Amino acid sequence: MRVNKVELLTKEELESRLRVCLERREMPDCFLYLGDSGVRSWLSLSASAEFPIASDLTTLLVESLPALLPRLPARFSLVSVGVGDGAKERTLLEALSPRRVQRYCAVDVSSEMVDRALNAVAHIEVEKCGIVAFLEDLPSLRRFWSTPALLCLLGNNFCNYDPAFILEMLRGQLGADDLFLFDCHLLPPGTDGRDGLSQRVEETYRSELNALFNINPLVQRGLSPDDCEFHLDLVPVQPELGTVYRTSKSLEIANDARIALGSGELCLSAGDRIRLGFTYKYTRGQLREYLVRHGFSERELFQSCGGDNVLVLVGRERA
Ligand SMILES: C[S@@+](CC[C@H](N)C(=O)[O-])C[C@H]1O[C@@H](n2cnc3c(N)ncnc32)[C@H](O)[C@@H]1O
Repeated sequence: MRVNKVELLTKEELESRLRVCLERREMPDCFLYLGDSGVRSWLSLSASAEFPIASDLTTLLVESLPALLPRLPARFSLVSVGVGDGAKERTLLEALSPRRVQRYCAVDVSSEMVDRALNAVAHIEVEKCGIVAFLEDLPSLRRFWSTPALLCLLGNNFCNYDPAFILEMLRGQLGADDLFLFDCHLLPPGTDGRDGLSQRVEETYRSELNALFNINPLVQRGLSPDDCEFHLDLVPVQPELGTVYRTSKSLEIANDARIALGSGELCLSAGDRIRLGFTYKYTRGQLREYLVRHGFSERELFQSCGGDNVLVLVGRERA
């Protein structure tokens, strides 16, 4: 079976984007997963009991498969963006008859993740393509698959983007017969007061292992973990739908330091604060409201038994 790998981004381009971001004292989450060390760091976090969100979302997908598979088209392209190690897609492909899958496209900003995702399904007789690209490049990626497509964004990836941005972009890229499958870790139900809520969410994200995962790109480039401090808070945003929450992460540089970047160096000064990526936390109702506002209709929603996680299959609203 044919396997292609297309690199629309080189390591050098990513390194120079990282420099631009760090000069502005920003480091978006896409830089956390690069290189063998980024992959190892994510896989150890996602397998850890300290960070149960990742394994809970895997369990939800597995439990939802019997009801999910009949809702998918008779034959379709499986496209997963931010595919990671491709374990969920392997589960999906193993459960589907190979005749149903026209092509599997594994897309990720991390070339090493794309390799892992392709290796994970090497035993499955389906045409495969690995694409190293940003999710934001979606408009130029459509040429790699045909419709109908099932576009997946799994592992709580959806919550790492502004909801209006991601839903509008997807609506522009999905055809009438395409489907979008994503999962979300929700605001824990029953935690209405901000105190209980922030405590639960902040405890999950403030673990030592998560801090190490977040500082890893800088540590790999020469920063000592003792020279920075990881901060994480839950902040209310976008009050128009009832309060939606978002994590706010940053690294505070404790001592002057130099890190290696590409063929050069970058100086960081004591007191600098580097803004990191974020994760939105919605209630189930807010999520539904966003989908409706941006022209999506829900085809199926699976909720974990504790109510903390959902897996949602949507399509464009029918005219
Ligand atoms: C939280 S992990 C989820 C991985 C996998 N989908 C899962 O369910 O375990 C996020 C993945 O998205 C990738 N990623 C992050 N930002 C991205 C972006 N802007 N474009 C494409 N991939 C991105 C990362 O490299 C990583 O593999």
